[in-house]
Amino acid sequence: MNFFLAQEYFKYFHLKTDEHSLHSPFFYHFYLKLIKSSSISNDCKSIEENRAALLKDETEFVIKDLGAGSKVNQSKSRTVKSIARHSLSNPKFSQFLYRIIQHFNFESIIELGTSLGINTAYMAQANPDASVFTFEADPNALKIAREVNKEHKNINFHEGDIANSLPNMLQKSNPTIDLVYADANHTYQASVDYFNIILPHLTSGSIYIMDDIHWSAGMKKAWEELKERKEVTSSIDLFDAGLLFFNSDFKKQHHVLDF
Ligand SMILES: C[S@@+](CC[C@H](N)C(=O)[O-])C[C@H]1O[C@@H](n2cnc3c(N)ncnc32)[C@H](O)[C@@H]1O
Repeated sequence: MNFFLAQEYFKYFHLKTDEHSLHSPFFYHFYLKLIKSSSISNDCKSIEENRAALLKDETEFVIKDLGAGSKVNQSKSRTVKSIARHSLSNPKFSQFLYRIIQHFNFESIIELGTSLGINTAYMAQANPDASVFTFEADPNALKIAREVNKEHKNINFHEGDIANSLPNMLQKSNPTIDLVYADANHTYQASVDYFNIILPHLTSGSIYIMDDIHWSAGMKKAWEELKERKEVTSSIDLFDAGLLFFNSDFKKQHHVLDF
């Protein structure tokens, strides 16, 4: 853990609360049913088997990283097992995404940063009737993600720099988006740009998840600014990620919650 992250964790640890601080019925149930629940359907077992295989895969390739890079591994050449170990969110978080999609029956999902496609698989499996639009610059990672997801017919893979591929896709299809999981270029500017590009496609029921909000000063600045935007009516900080809500019935509140 880098020094900035360690400091951030210390602050989070002292600020985080649980269901007892939540007076809104929506957030109370969201917390207990989706954040704290550990319920997961058996049909995700095969996704975790795929993750386990990737964690042992010694294949090495040169990565085309258009993001802020890795703080653990600065080399341009990486093994699949190193990417699986350091770049993917953990099973607990993947299962949280799965529960959100099932609970709200979300039908239109954007993932920024496909990597090896493990979270893509969770999101596609959570609702086979949903469309998952996933974006990745690295062709080698994308090849693995396609293989991991060969059974899922509801995924649209978009290769290239998100700065181009995301506006292109949104312009062409003009979809409304229920859920965004942004985990690609970990810089301040890219994080704000992604939000601005997607915002016109969100509805009052949408949820925008930004990963690694405490990863660097830039990511934290983006998070602090976005949660204050007038369109954002509430937020949850889970340390690993932040969630933004847009329902105008909510009284503006920011929660820091144990995950
Ligand atoms: C942290 S990984 C994503 C992990 C994935 N969400 C998961 O947990 O399974 C970030 C990915 O975003 C990709 N990425 C970063 N910047 C990008 C950009 N500007 N355009 C497209 N992909 C980008 C990287 O190549 C990398 O594979």
